[in-house]
Amino acid sequence: MDDWIDYYDSTHTIYVSKTHRDAHFRVIADDIAGFIASPDAVVLDYSCGEALFAPRVAAACGQLILAEPAPGVRGRLLARFATNPKIKVLSLAALSGLADASVDLAVMISVTQYMTPVELDDALALMRRVLKPGGRLVLGDILKPDIGAPTDVWALLRFGAAHGFFKDAVIGLARTALSDYWQLRQRIGLQRYGETEMIGKLASTGLIATRASVNVGHNPARMTFIARPQ
Ligand SMILES: C[S@@+](CC[C@H](N)C(=O)[O-])C[C@H]1O[C@@H](n2cnc3c(N)ncnc32)[C@H](O)[C@@H]1O
Repeated sequence: MDDWIDYYDSTHTIYVSKTHRDAHFRVIADDIAGFIASPDAVVLDYSCGEALFAPRVAAACGQLILAEPAPGVRGRLLARFATNPKIKVLSLAALSGLADASVDLAVMISVTQYMTPVELDDALALMRRVLKPGGRLVLGDILKPDIGAPTDVWALLRFGAAHGFFKDAVIGLARTALSDYWQLRQRIGLQRYGETEMIGKLASTGLIATRASVNVGHNPARMTFIARPQ
């Protein structure tokens, strides 16, 4: 296993049980839907993962573009949402075919930590290009430099307690400690950004950003930024 895309394309155990996986994707879908300003909106979810509750997002907008780099995950998305006319599934490479100023809301959640700085710059430039002048970019679940793994463990246990999978979370954490996840995390690491650094990075891409008061998803120790074209 060479990189995080390979990892997410494997039969990983990052979601400790079906209950965890469902709760995760339901919370993310509802958080994304909360950012949709109009029922006609075109929404881009960049590196969406399994997006199990994408129909909830699609129900709140005009079109939902799910972009995912992992080929196996993308194949499942294509099969899962083949009958939903509002959902389009694309590779990241295919996003270059999107027209300028054609997207109302772009979201990228829990992805920056897996990207090299150059990949992040390219993704931000792409999303800046496709955003309409009044559109918004939501960059969620950004890891801060000074927050380590114990905080992630604590957040998962609290999420498990709130959603009925606390015991699975404890077992899953022990299993994860021996898994490819920790080997990759130690070998290639995770990218982290400070608040000022991320706002500066977005500004250099032509986006005016502020940090949201609450992170998307379940981990309050991570950050979400909301950005608009300058
Ligand atoms: C933790 S999942 C997040 C999925 C979804 N956005 C969510 O919030 O549930 C990480 C996602 O990042 C993608 N990914 C991993 N490495 C990447 C990279 N270098 N560039 C773009 N996407 C990447 C994976 O394929 C996966 O879909």
